[in-house]
Amino acid sequence: MDNIVRDFFISLSQNKTLNQGAKKWGLRLGAQNVVAGTNVDEMIESVKKLNAAGISCTIDNLGEFVFEKEVALKAKEQILAVIESIHTNDLDAHISLKPSQLGLDIDLDFCSENLKEIVKKANEYNIFINFDMEDHARLQASFDLLDELSSTYDNIGTVIQAYFYRAKDDIEKYKNYRLRIVKGAYKEEESVAYQNKHDIDKNYIELIEWHLLNGKFTSIATHDHHVINHVKEFVEKHTIPKDKFEFQMLYGFRVDMQHALVKEGYHFCTYVPFGEDWYGYFMRRLAERPQNLNLLAKQVFNKKTNTLIGVAAAGFLLGRLTKRNK
Ligand code: FDA
Repeated sequence: MDNIVRDFFISLSQNKTLNQGAKKWGLRLGAQNVVAGTNVDEMIESVKKLNAAGISCTIDNLGEFVFEKEVALKAKEQILAVIESIHTNDLDAHISLKPSQLGLDIDLDFCSENLKEIVKKANEYNIFINFDMEDHARLQASFDLLDELSSTYDNIGTVIQAYFYRAKDDIEKYKNYRLRIVKGAYKEEESVAYQNKHDIDKNYIELIEWHLLNGKFTSIATHDHHVINHVKEFVEKHTIPKDKFEFQMLYGFRVDMQHALVKEGYHFCTYVPFGEDWYGYFMRRLAERPQNLNLLAKQVFNKKTNTLIGVAAAGFLLGRLTKRNK
């Protein structure tokens, strides 16, 4: 049942009509609890509050699966503006971006040029850029872009997704980068990724331990208190200094724990997503943890969104049934 719910929300996250529609709706369905506004000013206010509480931020100007050059160019300009405002406001913050937002699915050279402009500008201000990792289809191309850019710039790092079988090789190859280690958020085939929670969690812990002992700087990005407690014991046992790692969580999730970790003296970074393109991000959060539906249930659905999601749900279930009957 869990997998059906997960697949349902992942299929919703990739629904183009709903993705397009959501840009016009403004933040709805409870997304306002986990997305820090639709514009730069709202996001800056949130980041200032987090900084004041001793929390560093990684800012994601939401957007993904872009197939038109104008949209990718607009995203690039928006990210450049965010970099400028991090600098002007002297924020304790860096950037997270998705290569698909900047043209990965359009043309690799075009994407590379966009990324170069962003990384160069950030480098001038000593701001770090994290390449978020997307689905398996985009994985190798994203690493290739990282390789290309890191021959000139050192203010970049990326994400290792523990559900991939190849994650151990990747973490070894990129051990000298600042790496964020996550479980993995997309639906992947059994041929490339672990499918069950036990295997993913086991690999996740192994990767974190390995990178804490051998890597440059480790961002442990999880809301899982079992993992967090394990890491606390591990760093204590191996006397790993607190400036070699940080915990990361998403904006709006386990907020009390975010503040508690800061109080305990750990470095903490909140992932702050903002912008009009909130829909795919929000649906993946529901896929990870259907309890997040509480966020949604508290909201009064607007008629149009209700109908669209209803149609998408019917389509999804029909698809599942047809598949089963085959
Ligand atoms: P998981 O969802 O496995 O939950 C484990 C347990 O933790 C639950 O059973 C529950 O007990 C507890 N728990 C979890 N969430 C809770 C909550 N909200 N409240 C109370 N208890 C809770 N993915 C990706 O593919 N590419 C990327 O670039 C990124 N980037 C990224 C950045 C950051 C900062 C984070 C936190 C996550 C990502 N992810 C990601 C998403 C990641 O891959 C993963 O899908 C989610 O973090 C969900 O997995 P968790 O490890 O958080 O716990």
